Amino acid sequence: MSSHSTIRDLRAHVGETVTVHAWLTDKSGKGKIQFLKLRDGTGFVQATVFKNDVSEDVFAAARRLSQEQAVTVTGEVRADERAPGGVELGVRDLSVISENPAEYPITPKEHGIEFLLDHRHLWLRHRRPWAVLRVRDCVQRAIVDFFHGEGFVRFDAPFFTPNAAEGTTELFEIDLFGEDKAYLSQTGQLHAEAGALAFGKVYTFGPTFRAEKSKTRRHLLEFWMVEPEVAPSSHVENMALQERFVSFLVRRALEECADELETLGRDLEKLRPAASGNYPRVTYTGALEIIRQHIEAGDLPPNVQADVQPVEWGDDLGAPHETILGSHFDRPVIVERYPAAIKAFYMQPDPQDPRLALCDDMIAPEGYGEIIGGSERIHDYELLRSRIEHEGLPLEAFGWYLDLRRFGSVPHAGFGMGLERAVAWITGIDHIREAIPFPRMLTRMVP
Ligand code: 4AD
Ligand code: MG
Repeated sequence: MSSHSTIRDLRAHVGETVTVHAWLTDKSGKGKIQFLKLRDGTGFVQATVFKNDVSEDVFAAARRLSQEQAVTVTGEVRADERAPGGVELGVRDLSVISENPAEYPITPKEHGIEFLLDHRHLWLRHRRPWAVLRVRDCVQRAIVDFFHGEGFVRFDAPFFTPNAAEGTTELFEIDLFGEDKAYLSQTGQLHAEAGALAFGKVYTFGPTFRAEKSKTRRHLLEFWMVEPEVAPSSHVENMALQERFVSFLVRRALEECADELETLGRDLEKLRPAASGNYPRVTYTGALEIIRQHIEAGDLPPNVQADVQPVEWGDDLGAPHETILGSHFDRPVIVERYPAAIKAFYMQPDPQDPRLALCDDMIAPEGYGEIIGGSERIHDYELLRSRIEHEGLPLEAFGWYLDLRRFGSVPHAGFGMGLERAVAWITGIDHIREAIPFPRMLTRMVP
């Protein structure tokens, strides 16, 4: 009798005979020996079949195996320094679970990204997607653990919402049986504010939707956002929370996902500084100056075009500007106090300069751009009402939101982090679409 083991746990069974349920990813060998590359969802391992160690039937079955066939393999676990995971299996017995009627489409040769995304339902089984999505899982758990540890209450915002919050051009409109309209949520923030005034510290964590027509490597139509909200709180406390939060996530990924990050070839020296906090802070105005100096000196990261122009005061940073700014520091940088005119209506004005908002964006290094947007919220009823009107938003839809300023209003603050942006940065992949199991973009709704 042999015991069952996952591939991840094989290290604990060196010298024992175990059974694993697995799928074949690749195979090589000749004559009297077959090398089977196996995966089981927890990891990857090589199994060696010697003709002399097994029955004739088993050897013949091993030779016939095709890619992605499901098998049960029993073998001896041997320590092997050179193997990924440090072990290999010496096969004693093998049985075939699935007969694959057709040839598996994703072969070990190179495939284009569109082909792979068309086959995302199968591509998920391969090493790189597997590693990225395991890091995503690790980061999701770390998010929950972090907020639980800081005394936050998880608070679920609705996905159908009555109002816009982050600009009306990016709204997905839902027709309510011809009677009325609703929108898919762009953010859980407004409802989280109601939660913060009820529970003190809350966070929402779920899908959000943005009708972004731009095709960039940083945008999805559907992405997951985590949004803490604290009442009472301030802009300064909000930035400190962001730094504690992101450094916690990076520490956790470094501790728990060493194998996955190695599989992805992530340069850990570039990630490690983010684990120790001390994120630099610059004002929007100061950031423009850093960007201008880099452009004038021709000191640009490789993926920024040489004809990039400095930002005029009052304009938003573009992706190349965020890349330049991010390259100036070895860890995320917090850019604060943007001009209010380019930010959302609910942001508290800076008392020292009302042209500015008490807000910040966290910009990741290595070209990953904005991973967090946050702010202190307007807590004064009249001011908020006039901002809603000024934006041309329908006051009726915001009656409930204004009520939060009519009863027990206090300065409060929060932020949102896009999960896929954070995972893309931590894993070092070059497009956000690989940081979610099934990406939704302008050009992709299937599978
Ligand atoms: O900066 P944003 O628009 O901020 C908000 O939505 C605020 N209501 C958050 C808050 O204060 N509670 O979005 C926050 C983050 C961005 O920094 C980015 O990481 C991510 O959400 N994000 C996207 N990620 C993927 N695809 C998109 N289209 C994204 N749009 C924003
Ligand atoms: Mg933003």
